Amino acid sequence: MIPTEAKAPRAKFQQGKDYYLGNNPWFKKNPTRGIQLLTESATEGYDEAQFLLASILHQQHQYASAAAWYEKAAQQEHPEAQYILGLFYEKGYGVAVNNQLALNYYKKAAKQQHPDAQYKTAYFYEKGIGCKAGPDFMHAYRYYQDACAHTPLAYLGLSILYRDGLGVARDWELASFYYDIAKEQLKDHNNGSETVSRLKEAEPALVTLPTIKVNEVYYNKNAAPDGEGSYSIVYSGILKSQSKSVAVKLFKSDGNDYQCKERFENEINIMVKLQSPHIIRIYAVCPQPRLIIMERAARSLFNALYCTGIQMSWIQKLDLALEICYGLTHLHSHNPIILHRDLKSANVLLDENNHAKICDFGESHLGDPIVHSRVGTITHTAPELLQKNNPLQSEASDVYAFAVVLSEIATEDQPFENMALSDIVPYVLREGRPQFKPNSTIPKTPVAFYDLVVAAWRQKIEDRSPLKQIRSGLEHQKYVLTVLKKGSATA
Ligand SMILES: Nc1ncnc2c1ncn2[C@@H]1O[C@H](COP(=O)(O)OP(=O)(O)O)[C@@H](O)[C@H]1O
Ligand SMILES: [Mg+2]
Repeated sequence: MIPTEAKAPRAKFQQGKDYYLGNNPWFKKNPTRGIQLLTESATEGYDEAQFLLASILHQQHQYASAAAWYEKAAQQEHPEAQYILGLFYEKGYGVAVNNQLALNYYKKAAKQQHPDAQYKTAYFYEKGIGCKAGPDFMHAYRYYQDACAHTPLAYLGLSILYRDGLGVARDWELASFYYDIAKEQLKDHNNGSETVSRLKEAEPALVTLPTIKVNEVYYNKNAAPDGEGSYSIVYSGILKSQSKSVAVKLFKSDGNDYQCKERFENEINIMVKLQSPHIIRIYAVCPQPRLIIMERAARSLFNALYCTGIQMSWIQKLDLALEICYGLTHLHSHNPIILHRDLKSANVLLDENNHAKICDFGESHLGDPIVHSRVGTITHTAPELLQKNNPLQSEASDVYAFAVVLSEIATEDQPFENMALSDIVPYVLREGRPQFKPNSTIPKTPVAFYDLVVAAWRQKIEDRSPLKQIRSGLEHQKYVLTVLKKGSATA
């Protein structure tokens, strides 16, 4: 039967498709006629025609026209069109890159159970891409769960959320369970570079790090330790396999074993993500007894300032300030952000060449700003965290602690040295700060440095200098000092 000329949009779409593909004996291949009919149907509002037309244009690399037709189909809730339009906005095909719109379209398709869109939505939420308020791990979790029946990449997402405790309670066992499923399912695929780097990103800490037995490291518990904190004792030691001199942090498991395990795993999980010359490097872990084997430093900044009597020049002090600033910047620029939460001179170490390295990540936190759960060290705790109504802890509280460390470096006095602990809280809430006058220190503190500290420990978060600004301030001071020194040497 010779087909009659189609009139209704749906029939035009069918005939257009048949002409375009040369589908059956009645419709000899006639792409021009096909496109004509599809365009008519699409213009009359038939979403399948809009979608097919868009796909044809897409294949022909006519991205702008393809985007326009995908957009029309997407507005009619065509899930595949919504997903592809998301991709267009993400990659900038035929439209300007716009992550917010990309996320919007992914979300729409995801709500219609489009598995790739569910995965993309989850990933965008995890990384905070296109999200005004930053990452949203709870939503990421939900969408990964929806997507994991269809894509192994979603298992990797779940594995990362469990490993890092993002939007869920941290659970290393579940994390490696999901990681193993994903790895197994991906093993026969010819994986693209994005998948390969995602697999690397999701590696559980204990896969990346050598796990050793206690007899693979030498340390002497009867010798004087390198240092001791509230939760651990740190000994010098030797990692036998590499004959390497290391520091061995032994966790005290007295009292609450669950809390000790949490701190231990948290510290490993964070250290393994950090690679900076100004952050102590982790080498290996031992689960029983709980040991972290790490790069060994000569002393803590606390010891250098208060116990050794070593005199430091101003330029040395400025260098220290800058290096700690670089270490802290490395933490804060991690995605998701890492907050140290216990920055103080005892948690900054110096190597033999007096280079500063931040240590002690037991209190650190990865991810969203959190409701302050406990005070790190009262002398370095920002006023917003001392108030009763539990505020969110953010990078500004690390900046405050950093400012106190800067004052320690300049004054060589312990903050609030002569004050009873119970008096410090009300004092800081009334805007009291550690004693610091530029002229009273040896060597003399330049006023520019003093001003920078004062701006970094302001009472209100919104008045406090951002870390970036402190960094450029310190860099400027170093530049001026170096130029002056050179100038006076050549004069
Ligand atoms: N890698 C290291 N090299 C040398 N000394 C260290 C090292 N790590 C820690 N220390 C010393 O041990 C002390 C306690 O370590 P820290 O990691 O702060 O433990 P805690 O979590 O118990 O506070 C530090 O203040 C420092 O004096
Ligand atoms: Mg400590």
